[in-house]
Amino acid sequence: MTDKPRLLSVADAEALSIQDVWRLHRDHISPRQVNIFSSFGYGHDLFTEAEGVWLTTSEGRKILDFTGGFGVLNHGHNHPRILKVRREYQDKRRVEVHKIVFSPMMVALAHNVAALLPGDLNKCFFPNSGAEAVEGALKVAYKSRPARRDHVLYAEDSFHGKLIGSGTITGCQSKVWDFPRMANTASFRRNDLDSVERQVAALRKTDGSSNIYAIAIEPFHATTMTTCTGEFLIGLRRICDREGIALIFDEVYSGWGKTGHLFYFMAHDVVPDILCMSKSFGGGKASISGLVVRDPVFAAAYGTDASALLQSSTYNGFGEECATALEAVNIMIEEDLPGRARHIHEVLNAGLTALAAKYPGTIREIRGYGGFNGVVLDSPFDLIEKALAHVPNLLGDKRFFINKIAAAAVADEMYRTHGILTTMIDNGDLVVYAALPSLVVNDSELRQFLDALDKVLDKGLTRVSAEFVGSKLMMMLKGLT
Ligand SMILES: Cc1ncc(COP(=O)(O)O)c(C=O)c1O
Repeated sequence: MTDKPRLLSVADAEALSIQDVWRLHRDHISPRQVNIFSSFGYGHDLFTEAEGVWLTTSEGRKILDFTGGFGVLNHGHNHPRILKVRREYQDKRRVEVHKIVFSPMMVALAHNVAALLPGDLNKCFFPNSGAEAVEGALKVAYKSRPARRDHVLYAEDSFHGKLIGSGTITGCQSKVWDFPRMANTASFRRNDLDSVERQVAALRKTDGSSNIYAIAIEPFHATTMTTCTGEFLIGLRRICDREGIALIFDEVYSGWGKTGHLFYFMAHDVVPDILCMSKSFGGGKASISGLVVRDPVFAAAYGTDASALLQSSTYNGFGEECATALEAVNIMIEEDLPGRARHIHEVLNAGLTALAAKYPGTIREIRGYGGFNGVVLDSPFDLIEKALAHVPNLLGDKRFFINKIAAAAVADEMYRTHGILTTMIDNGDLVVYAALPSLVVNDSELRQFLDALDKVLDKGLTRVSAEFVGSKLMMMLKGLT
C-alpha cells in the first residue's frame, strides 16, 4: 500500500513563504514564469490583503496598485458591496448550478445588460473568459448567416485571446503564435476602410456574394491605448450591412466604463451584431464574461429546438457569478465609473504632459483615453543601440527590446522605491508604460503616482535601466534565476 500524499490545506497555503511559493510554482505551474516575475521587486513579495487601490504585503508594506488588475478591477479590490452580495448569496445557500433549471440571477443580469445597451442587443450568454466570449461570437456569427460562408476578417494589430479561434484572429501575436490556426482568416488595417474593402472584394463566392461571415474589431485598442475612429466603425457597419456580414465588437478590456463610456462604441452612432465583454463585469471577484447578440442574429443562429443548446457550457451563468456581476453592473452605474474614468484621464494626462515637458528626451509620447493612460519612453541606451547595430539581429526588433527593458525598469523602480505597482503593455511593436488604476482611485493617489514617476525620471532612464539590468545579472550570478 502506498502512503497517501500529504495534501496542503488553505491554512497551509496561507503560511507559505515566497521561497515556498517559487518552488511550488516552478514544480507545478511553470519554471520560466518564476524567472520572469521574480525579476521584479513585486515577485519577491506575497500580498495578503487588498482593498480599493491598496495592497498589503505579508511584511505589512502598503502598495498602491496602478495596474487595475488589467481591466478586472474597475471597482477596486474587494468593493464592500461586491463582498456583501457574495456573502449573502452563500449565507442563504442559494443555488449555483442551473444547467436544467431556471436561474433568476442569470435572467436578471441579462435584463440589465440588455437594458443598458442600444438597439436590439438583447440575447446574452455568460461564459467565463474573454476568449470564450470571442469564440462564442465567431460561432453565432457563422451560424446566423443564411448561406454557408467561410471567412472571418480581423485587424492586423488585434488582441482577442489565446484559444485557437480567438488566437488565430489575434494579429499582434502572429509572430509568436505557434499553434494550429483556424482556417480562412484574413486581416485588415485598423482605421483603414480601403483595406477592409480590398479583403471584402477578394473574398467573394463565384456568384458574387460575400464569403465572409464576420468582421471582428476592438473599437478601443487597449494594447496601444488608441481608438477606432467613429468614421471607421460606422464604415464597418455599412460594409457589414451591404454584404450581410456579422459585425463583432470586442470590448472585453475596454468595456464597463474604463474608456469613460459604458462601452467605447457607444460614443459613436453604431451598433454591432455581437458584443463581447468581460473583466470588470465580474466586479473583481467573479470569473464571468458576456456575449450579447442582436435579436434577429440570435434567432437565425439558435432559434430552433435543434440549435437551442449549441451555445452552452458547464460553467456558464453560475449563480454567484451572475449575482456578483449584477451588483457590479449596478455599482458601475450608481457610482458613475465612466465619469470617474474621464476624470482620471484629465488628471493623469495633465500630469504626464507636464512630465514630458520636464523630461523631453525621456518621454517620446503620451497616450491615454479614459482610465487608460501611459507614456512611450524614449530609448535610454543610445550607445547600446549603436553597438547592437553591428550585431546580428538576434533580439528581433532591438529598439522594441530596449524600450521594453526601460519600461520594465521604471515599473521596477516605482515598486521598489515608491511602493507603486505598475506595468507595461505591448503589442509586439510598441511598449507603453501604463497607469491603469481602478476607477475608484482618488486625486491624492493619482498625485502620488505622478510624484513618484517624476522622481524616477529625475534619476534618469539610463541609470534606472542600468540598475535594473545589473540587478538581473547579480541574480544570475547568485543562481537565483
Ligand atoms: C480585447 C480583448 N479580447 C479578449 C481578451 C481575452 O480575454 P481572456 O484573457 O479573459 O481570455 C482580452 C484579454 O485581455 C482582451 O483584452
